[in-house]
Amino acid sequence: MRKAYLVSAIAAVLLSGGAMAKDVNLAKFHSDMGDCQSCHVEGKLKDINKTITDSQTHENAQCRDCHGGYSELANDKLHFDPHTSHLGEINCTSCHTAHAKPELTCNNCHNFEMEMPFANSKAKKKWDGDWNQEQIRKAIERGPVETVDVIVVGGGSAGFNAAISAKEAGANVVLFEKAPYTGGNSMLAAGGINAVGTPQQKKKGIEDKVKWYAEDAMKGGRYQNDPKLVQILAEESAEAVAWLESLGANMDDLKRSGGARVERTHRPSGGASVGPHIIDTLRKAADKRDIPVRVNSRVEKIVLNDDKSIAGVVVHGRHSGYNMVAADSVVLATGGYGMNKQMVAYYRPTMKDMTSSNNVTATGDGVLLAKEIGASMTDIDWVQAHPTIGKDSRILISETVRGVGAIMVNTDGQRFISELTTRDRASDAILKQKDQYAWLVFDEQLVKKKKMVRGYEHLGMLSKANTIEELAKITNMKDLPKTAAAYNKYQAAGKDEAFGREDMPLNLSKPPYYAVKVAPGIHHTMGGVAVDTDANVLNLQSWKMDGLYAAGEVTGGLHGYNRLGGNAIADTVVFGRKAGENAAKFALEKK
Ligand code: FUM
Repeated sequence: MRKAYLVSAIAAVLLSGGAMAKDVNLAKFHSDMGDCQSCHVEGKLKDINKTITDSQTHENAQCRDCHGGYSELANDKLHFDPHTSHLGEINCTSCHTAHAKPELTCNNCHNFEMEMPFANSKAKKKWDGDWNQEQIRKAIERGPVETVDVIVVGGGSAGFNAAISAKEAGANVVLFEKAPYTGGNSMLAAGGINAVGTPQQKKKGIEDKVKWYAEDAMKGGRYQNDPKLVQILAEESAEAVAWLESLGANMDDLKRSGGARVERTHRPSGGASVGPHIIDTLRKAADKRDIPVRVNSRVEKIVLNDDKSIAGVVVHGRHSGYNMVAADSVVLATGGYGMNKQMVAYYRPTMKDMTSSNNVTATGDGVLLAKEIGASMTDIDWVQAHPTIGKDSRILISETVRGVGAIMVNTDGQRFISELTTRDRASDAILKQKDQYAWLVFDEQLVKKKKMVRGYEHLGMLSKANTIEELAKITNMKDLPKTAAAYNKYQAAGKDEAFGREDMPLNLSKPPYYAVKVAPGIHHTMGGVAVDTDANVLNLQSWKMDGLYAAGEVTGGLHGYNRLGGNAIADTVVFGRKAGENAAKFALEKK
C-alpha cells in the first residue's frame, strides 16, 4: 500500500516536469506526502531525534519497505546501476541524504555522471569524525553509556573476522565503522586469498608447501618481514579458506599472483570479485550471529584505566555524538593509511602525489589511536605502489590479469620486465620508462578466462582492435607487433628469452586485442601498529598492551618491504580471527 502511494507520488512529480525547487529535498518531499513518520519513528520532533540511531536502521528499513530491496531496484537499462554495485546492499542513506544534497558513494572512486533524485537540494556540511578533544574529554567524564566485552574498530574483513570469532568464543561484542557502509578496503580486493594445502590446490594437482608460501612472502618482502608472523600466515592459511567457506563463501577458483611460485590465490568461481563476495559473506555471518554493526560511528579515542589497562573507547556517532563505551578488549581493524594524504606526505613524501586504489576509509585512524596511547609502530613508512592502477584513475587492474596471461609494455610497445615480478619491482620499472606509465595487452582468450576484464571494458578503460597492428596504431605503440610476435615465440617454446617470465599461460592470437593504460599508485601500507603472534599490540618497550589487539592493514611486520598479492585478505582472515579469539579470551578471563 505504502509502496503504491509512493510510486504514484513520484510519478506525479516526474509528470509535472520533474524539476524540483532548490529547497525540496528528500525529507521535504516525504513530509509533504505524509509527515516525518514516513521515514522516522512516531513521536514529536524532539523524540524523533532521539530515536535516530547512528546506523539509521529504522530509516533505512523504511526506504526498503516503500521502494523495495536492491534486487527490486535493479535497472538493467542503466549503463552503471548503483543498486547492483560491488558495494552490495549498503544503507540507502549512504547516498540518499534526506535533509541535504544526495551524493553517489560510487563517485568516491569513479566519475559517473548520474542525475540523482533531489540533486538540487542544498549541500550540507558532511558529517565526519572531527576528533574534538573537548567532547572526548566530556564523554570520558560522563562515563560509559554501554559496556561490552570486546569492541572491534573497523568493518572490513579483519574487523568482521575478529567480531565473528569473538562472538563465537562467547564474548559480547560490538563493531564500529566510521563510514556509512561496511567493507573498507577489503571490499575492493580484486585478487584473492593465498592459501597452501587446500582441497582446491589438491584438485588441480598443485604441489605447494607451507615452507614455500613462507619463503615467497619473505622474498617478496625483501626479507624484512617478521618471520614468526609469516609462518603463522602460511600455516593457518588453509584453515582461513575453510573458515570463509564454512561461513558461506565460494573460494573454488585458483590463480597465481606475482611473487608466488605456484597457483595459491583462491577466489570465487564464476568470475565474481573476491572482495565484495567475502564482505557479503561476512556481513551475513555477523547478522546471523546478532553482532551489532554500527556504521557512521568513528572511534576517536582508546580510553585507558589508571593502571593502563583498556577501559573502552570514545565513539563519535553521526547522531548520538560523543559517547564512551566500556570494554576490557579492543581490536583495531581500521585498515591502512593509503587515503590519508597527510600521513602519506609525512611517512612517504615521494609518494604524496600518487593516486591510490584504496577505499576512502583508509585514513590510518588505528595508527593514530594506538600511537596516542603508547603503541609501537613497525615499518610505518613502507608503502606499496601497485604497478597497474588504471592511468589517471583510482581503479585497480588486478595483477591476476597478468597472472592469467597479459603482457606489459611501455609506450613504444616494448616489454621491459617479467610481468610476474613483485609489485615494487614492477612499479619501479614503469617509473623508469619514458612516460612513467605502461600498457597491459591481451586478447579475447584472456577476456574469456577473466570476466573481471569485462568490468574494465564497461568502465571505458580498454582500447580494442581487431588486429595487433591496428591496436598498435590506435595506441601509438609502434613496436607492439614485433613484441607480440616475439612473445608468441617464447610462449610456444615455453621459455621467455627476454625477461625470464616463469609462466606464460596465453599467447596473443585471438582477436579482438585489448590494451589498458596503467601506472603505479598507492595500494597497501605495509607498516603500522606493532603486534606479536597473538595479535596483541606492543608498546614502545615491546611489551604487550593487555586487552589491545590489532589485525589487518593497520598492523606492520607481516609483509616486510613489499606485500604479495593475495596476502592481504589472508592476513585479515588469519589475524582477524586470532585477534577476535584472543580479545574474547582476555575479556572473559577478566570477568
Ligand atoms: O592486483 C590485485 O589483484 C591485488 C591483490 C592484492 O592486493 O592482494
